[in-house]
Amino acid sequence: MGAEDSRLDEVFDNLLTTLRNFVKENRITHDEYRRAVAFMTEVGQKGEVSLLCDVFIEVSVDAADNSGRSGTITTIEGPFYVHDAPMLNSPCVLPQRLDESGPVLLFTGTVLSSKGEPLPGAVLDLWQSDTHGLYSHFDIPKNEAPYNLRARVTTDRQGKFDVQTRLPAPYEIPKSGPTGALLAALQRHAWRPAHLHMKVEHSGHRTLTTQLFLKKDPWIDSDVVEGAVKQALIVDPVMHDDADDLHRRNFSEPYFTLSYDFLLEPAISKAA
Ligand SMILES: [Fe+2]
Repeated sequence: MGAEDSRLDEVFDNLLTTLRNFVKENRITHDEYRRAVAFMTEVGQKGEVSLLCDVFIEVSVDAADNSGRSGTITTIEGPFYVHDAPMLNSPCVLPQRLDESGPVLLFTGTVLSSKGEPLPGAVLDLWQSDTHGLYSHFDIPKNEAPYNLRARVTTDRQGKFDVQTRLPAPYEIPKSGPTGALLAALQRHAWRPAHLHMKVEHSGHRTLTTQLFLKKDPWIDSDVVEGAVKQALIVDPVMHDDADDLHRRNFSEPYFTLSYDFLLEPAISKAA
């Protein structure tokens, strides 16, 4: 039996024991069991397996998988990641529509090892909502704006990145399907505070999956994904509204700047 088989055996046995104990302790009725099966069937039919799991369970997976990790703190990936976003070199502007709305955000920083050494050639895989809280490839049809506000940005020779994008907005996770119905039944709202998503990668280092949250967001203390917001990931972009500066940059409205450095811990040795 291979290592994967024995891991599956161990984890499945444990899961089954936990579920059977849950049924026993909560005196689950046959009717409740059938309703749960129907709910999970609908979750699958409506394509919400990732959504449901990411809202209620991924925080725990993140905590378990990243326990004791050094470098920048992690949080959930969520259901809106697309793996093949365009590759761009820093400095760059994220792909966006000609009439993309929302304040410009100039996002800069350095990717570093956990010892503080800059990492040239690191890849910052960015994705975010637009100013209406919509994600390309999900809320915005793929053919309408492919990879809108998504890119894999390579850091320069100093390990720095310099990205022009738009301020993200808070959004409600999809409410029309079974995940939304469950939240409504629990009398819980469906809002996520505004955030930028990123995976940061560099050879020889553990990939970092995290998010940066905007401090002044009204939902910052009540994310529907309980536990996803962490203090060290809350940022407060600076607004710039000097008329001469705006004119020089050819911006028609105030813009924001945000600087944040990412620290990657070394990859886990396979031999360990
Ligand atoms: Fe998101």
